[in-house]
Amino acid sequence: MTQGQPVRVFAVTSGKGGVGKTNVSVNLSVALSRLGQRVMLMDADLGMANVDVLLGLKPQWNLSHVMQGERTLEEVLVDGPEGLSIIPAASGISDMANLGQMENAGLVQAFSELSGRMDILMVDTAAGISGSVTTLAAAADEVLVVVCDEPASITDAYALIKVLSGQHRVQRFHVIANMVRSPDEGRNLFRKLFMVCDKFLDVTLQFLGSIPHDEMLRKSVQRQKPVVQAFPGSLSSRAFERLARELLKLPVRKELNGGIQFFIERVVA
Ligand SMILES: Nc1ncnc2c1ncn2[C@@H]1O[C@H](COP(=O)(O)OP(=O)(O)OP(=O)(O)O)[C@@H](O)[C@H]1O
Ligand SMILES: [Mg+2]
Repeated sequence: MTQGQPVRVFAVTSGKGGVGKTNVSVNLSVALSRLGQRVMLMDADLGMANVDVLLGLKPQWNLSHVMQGERTLEEVLVDGPEGLSIIPAASGISDMANLGQMENAGLVQAFSELSGRMDILMVDTAAGISGSVTTLAAAADEVLVVVCDEPASITDAYALIKVLSGQHRVQRFHVIANMVRSPDEGRNLFRKLFMVCDKFLDVTLQFLGSIPHDEMLRKSVQRQKPVVQAFPGSLSSRAFERLARELLKLPVRKELNGGIQFFIERVVA
């Protein structure tokens, strides 16, 4: 356990919707918990199939209640599988940037108080390049970009990386190829995105790995359970476990890693 270390914040993004961000966030979070990490999963997507739906949870409160001073952050947290803590989605996420100074300070303080209780904050964002998505991604320590083998997925991922690098000075991205039919397909997807980014943008793109297209994952979604829990031996589960180990190998970047306080400060700034 990494007591005393700053919390590492990972944002899971994509240009195009429906490529698997929420499944990646949830399953990586569970896999990281199994590796001994204390993980908090922040649902920052207001779409349909978000984290609480995927896990069959019915949260009563969310971040907007914290911002309005009605609940403490502690009261808003929901217990997920295998020790995960979940911060439920709030329509207020996009309002975080518009808070007054007092509310800002309250939110930063609330998160700071939790920082001793977690090692990793995983942020599941919405698709696209809206302001709230890019703000969350830019505030994170590492940005994970999920792509799949559809032309729109690559062009939209490129658009997202362009905005994040051009307007938010994010320089490093980790690519996850999801729903691949073969290991080659994943590497080729990465190569396509790498080539166009390399040509036009000043960014570093790293390939974190692939997740196979897996019927078991779809079945687990229907059961409202993470696939790593519902079908631990499945191909996608094993891929999530590999990816979780890869994530932990990423060097902690001292210059950027300011822990959760800095993440929230950058989001609400
Ligand atoms: N590896 C996979 N194998 C098979 N099906 C998958 C896989 N990953 C995702 N899916 C399917 O794609 C659907 C969408 O996944 P998910 O909700 O995680 O995407 P998302 O990127 O979070 O979507 P949104 O942009 O709406 O938030 C899942 O319900 C599942 O049916
Ligand atoms: Mg989602």
